[in-house]
Amino acid sequence: MKSLTVGTKNQDKFREIEAILAAVPVRLRPLPAEASEVDESGQTLEANAELKAHGYALQTGTFCLADDTGLEVDALGGAPGVYSARYAGPDATYADNRAHLLEALRAVPPGRRQARFRCVVALANPAGEVLARAEGVLEGVILEKARGQGGFGYDPIFAVNGKTLAEISEAEKNALSHRAAALVELRHRILELL
Ligand code: IMP
Repeated sequence: MKSLTVGTKNQDKFREIEAILAAVPVRLRPLPAEASEVDESGQTLEANAELKAHGYALQTGTFCLADDTGLEVDALGGAPGVYSARYAGPDATYADNRAHLLEALRAVPPGRRQARFRCVVALANPAGEVLARAEGVLEGVILEKARGQGGFGYDPIFAVNGKTLAEISEAEKNALSHRAAALVELRHRILELL
């Protein structure tokens, strides 16, 4: 079976990508422990997804899939967007970022808390050339308090149809998520290109 490196050090993302691509006949490999983190210096999700796919493909000499995701909050003009991972500072934890966002939205009423996750995935060949890219979006709202124990990152404060992404099962999240939409679009290309 052909194999594909998933260019992320984030175990939560790896687990979701593995579940979403479970039916695709490709062996997914994690990054080797010694891989050095690719600098996310791009100004857009597209640029960062490509930087990661390119950089990790070159480091491993394998086909590589990378994801860059941002949370865009309308009341904040689209922030944190591409800076979602570092919203509360360079070493911010998931909880720090959620607290920072809830504080930024403290005066924003429930009817004006629309937001969306945007996920861009990119696929690079072992020479680091980006061969394909896809995007997925999930619309929702930011609650005033965290709810639920599942998911990761901003999931406990992001709700769709009244439930946060931390209150639904992993399978339910993977049926509707931004990451799933992007990967479903890309999966035909994965099979063609590998
Ligand atoms: P990046 O794609 O590694 O730059 O991550 C962006 C940040 O967004 C991560 O640190 C997470 O906190 C958050 N994030 C990414 N994907 C998700 C998701 O599916 N749910 C909730 N938060 C996410």
